[in-house]
Amino acid sequence: QALTKQYYNEPHRLQIHFTPKEHWMNDPNGMVYYNGVYHLFYQHHPGSTVFGPIHWGHATSRDLIHWQHQPIALYPDSAGYIFSGSAVVDHKNTSRFGKNGKVPLVAIFTHHSVKGEQEGRNDFQNESLAYSLDEGRTWTKYKCNPVLKNPGIKDFRDPKVSWNEVAHKWIMTLATLDHITFYSSRNLKDWTKESEFGKGTGAHGGVWECPDLFSLNYQGKKIWVLIVNINPGGPNGGSGTQYFVGDFDGHQFTPFDKETRWLDYGPDEYAGVTFSNTGNRRLFLGWMSNWQYAQVVPTQKWRGAMTVPRELSIKKVNGKYLLASTPVPEVNKLFNRSFKFKNIPATNFELTAKTGKLTGPALIKMTGAQLKDLSITLSNSLHQKLIVGFDESKNEFFIDRTQSGNVGFEKDFGKRHTAPRLLQTPNFNCTLIIDKASVELFEGDGLTVMTAIFFPDEDYSDISIQSKSALNMESLTVSSQN
Ligand code: FRU
Repeated sequence: QALTKQYYNEPHRLQIHFTPKEHWMNDPNGMVYYNGVYHLFYQHHPGSTVFGPIHWGHATSRDLIHWQHQPIALYPDSAGYIFSGSAVVDHKNTSRFGKNGKVPLVAIFTHHSVKGEQEGRNDFQNESLAYSLDEGRTWTKYKCNPVLKNPGIKDFRDPKVSWNEVAHKWIMTLATLDHITFYSSRNLKDWTKESEFGKGTGAHGGVWECPDLFSLNYQGKKIWVLIVNINPGGPNGGSGTQYFVGDFDGHQFTPFDKETRWLDYGPDEYAGVTFSNTGNRRLFLGWMSNWQYAQVVPTQKWRGAMTVPRELSIKKVNGKYLLASTPVPEVNKLFNRSFKFKNIPATNFELTAKTGKLTGPALIKMTGAQLKDLSITLSNSLHQKLIVGFDESKNEFFIDRTQSGNVGFEKDFGKRHTAPRLLQTPNFNCTLIIDKASVELFEGDGLTVMTAIFFPDEDYSDISIQSKSALNMESLTVSSQN
């Protein structure tokens, strides 16, 4: 995406996922849609391929799938590194940053003071503002930063701000160590604490980070979703994205129940949050890595990638509202060649014997009357392989990367990861998005999602499908890029 051939040809360089041209990237930040343009900012260290003095990198897109690299938006300063946060379109100019009728885009981010941390203080993370009057091209930091001072909580970060129609105020959802604190403001500058949520609820195997709060419409009913990223303590070790469904009355979040739920069960979707100002669409993007090994994965010039953009919706399963994510339909446009198969009877189907070798990205869609044992194996001539499948006896999906290639850079990387099947119907409908170094699995309505990265020593080129019982696949569509 917007990379020259030179970059596309690098080992492991993703072709249909956003990656920085070079150097380190972690969380997506400040995602906002304005005037026909999607803005993606991201945690970026332009000095090396590991974490360091963090900036906000910037990229833009008109279609969510082709991105253009932009100059760095925010640089660290005397108040610290520019940690994660969000951006809003201040349509009504509540902040008064707007001049001459120009609508300000306002970024709300964490200033992380390394000095404060080294001095052993507890208040080294504070929330600050920057604004843009040229549609996101250039940014000015607010002269009275920070706007929200830390009361003495070591982890006090990742503000996600949105306009709340009921309270008629901006609501900031902030990760505060092991819970969420909500703040409100009329002008984005003066913040008042509203309430807390989460002590004793949900997963607590690690610190809470990068939250998000929004509502989705389910058959005329407003359902509120609170996303809370957590590290470590994810469903398959390391980082993960949990969510709660419930009600938000403009002041307080009340979950419908206390269960722990995961937006993505794979090891490699983290810090995922949604775009602001996208109308009825709720668009989500995550960082495709895991803090367990993010800084040692074997890429050369750059480290880090984003998932494909996903559209979120609510589904009702067994009387419970669950959050579903599916790839945005725009992703289909990336593929211009399709192979379609019907009623596949065999127990071993050599897909690439029919399609020819597939080394580039692929989109695989499978449907069937009954989901039985199933495995889809990607492999190369070195006998390295990645297996994605379904285990009927356990009713779970899995991604097995134990023999996927280079797995030795970290002890926990070469594993088999699993995810429960949440859909109740016997028929199935699975989508796989495969890139040079990643796979994303979406079951049916998007209730079970898994993302995993991998690093074969030679690109995978063969795909085969196996099943212990006779395959019961009604349709199989494989799309590629020629
Ligand atoms: C999540 C996170 C955030 C923080 C940022 C620093 O991955 O740890 O909590 O703001 O990364 O880069």
